[in-house]
Amino acid sequence: MSDKTTEIFEHLRYNLITKDRRFSEVNGKLCFEGVNVEELAKKYGSPVYVYSEKELLRNLAEIEEAFKGHKNTKIFYASKACSVMAILRILKDAGCGIETNSLNEIKKAVEIGFKGEDIVFNGVMKTREDLEYAIAHDLYLINVDSLYELDMIDEISRAQKKVAHVCVRVEPNVPSATHPGLVTAFHAKSGIDLQQAEGAVRRILEMPYVQVRGLHMHVGDQVPESEPFAKATAVLVNESIRLEKLFGIKFDLINVGGGIPVPYKYDEENGDPLHDNMYAGINSKDFADAIIGEVQKWGEDKQICIEPGRKIPSSAAVMLSTIKCEKIKTNYDLEGNVQCHVDWKFCDAGYNVMADAQHYAWFFYIYNASRIAEPHDHYVKIAGPLCDGGDYYHMGVKGEEFLMPKDTTIDDVFVFLDAGAYSIESQTVYNCRARTAVVLIDKDGKDRLIRHADTYEDMVSYDIY
Ligand SMILES: Cc1ncc(COP(=O)(O)O)c(C=O)c1O
Repeated sequence: MSDKTTEIFEHLRYNLITKDRRFSEVNGKLCFEGVNVEELAKKYGSPVYVYSEKELLRNLAEIEEAFKGHKNTKIFYASKACSVMAILRILKDAGCGIETNSLNEIKKAVEIGFKGEDIVFNGVMKTREDLEYAIAHDLYLINVDSLYELDMIDEISRAQKKVAHVCVRVEPNVPSATHPGLVTAFHAKSGIDLQQAEGAVRRILEMPYVQVRGLHMHVGDQVPESEPFAKATAVLVNESIRLEKLFGIKFDLINVGGGIPVPYKYDEENGDPLHDNMYAGINSKDFADAIIGEVQKWGEDKQICIEPGRKIPSSAAVMLSTIKCEKIKTNYDLEGNVQCHVDWKFCDAGYNVMADAQHYAWFFYIYNASRIAEPHDHYVKIAGPLCDGGDYYHMGVKGEEFLMPKDTTIDDVFVFLDAGAYSIESQTVYNCRARTAVVLIDKDGKDRLIRHADTYEDMVSYDIY
């Protein structure tokens, strides 16, 4: 049975295996960077995340290219998006800096070999211990999130007799059309009021070891249009110019955070990014142009720091999950009349593994990698293994339903596309289920394990009894 949704999805499937730089089809099986994903799921077990080194580097290169128009740009990869250490190493070796949000993220960065000058530190609630470590390691920037934190930085830098380079994180008061939980520049908990920036800078100028380098912001994550970036950058630039004049100082940079959106839904002509931000209305170039345009009104020599997270790992990974159970159930109304039949497919990845799908009702394309050449024209619901009734994928291609080949069955492997950002970081061990293994397909097309799944022994080793 073909309908409009099936037609669109079939078109997308065709594009996936013929035009997408990451994928191909060989003997009816889906290949990711030339590697048969069904075989990867068998070799490493499932659920499993598989990253492509090539795609990570392509995404980074796309951002670098977008900022070519402003030579003095420094990229700090927001490691919260995926801090698997082999991934961090790839990005470090490619010359990228790193954005961190906790003491342990800084420690991971240092362990991988990032120098202090390549690390920036964000966070709404940095502790004394965090700041002592950060200042001792000469970080490029600590983005100050509160006046309380600023005083602590003053104290610690005096005690250590070490210079602390800071930006003052301000709220530009610019909303954006993303998920409410991802808006960070409007009525947000982060940063200080723009009106407090003057007072903060005045205080810093009296601090012997604290040096202010500029203002910082982060508009939001998965922001589908460029206007908020331009608007918020203009707010920071204007305030920077005012503060420079007022205090007779020179800032050397502006830090505009991250937020480049990723297309999770590809058929732009059928979607409106402003109403459904799973369509990314802009790319890295649009993001860059919005920012560069405003910064260059201030000065060509001012450094632009950016902190892109999602954009770098998102399209660089797939999540593979195997069908382990299936059943057909009937939905009845309260009088016992049949409403519909539901073809349920149960895979081994629930919300423990794909937390964003639940928290933020995130959309992921799901295909049957074992039967990628077969028409995906049969509606199913896809559930995970957890005990909760809500542990099924609610954001289907049509309502809660997904399209799969009619013969989809046990042991087939589902592939979830664009699964590389904020996924491994938010896995849980709910129902005592293991966090997944992570595999890398390197530049030469060779696969290797870069993180093992939790073993039972790992999981019980945390408990003291
Ligand atoms: C301060 C800051 N910078 C950068 C990022 C990365 O954002 P994105 O992954 O949308 O690029 C975040 C995400 O929350 C953030 O809070």
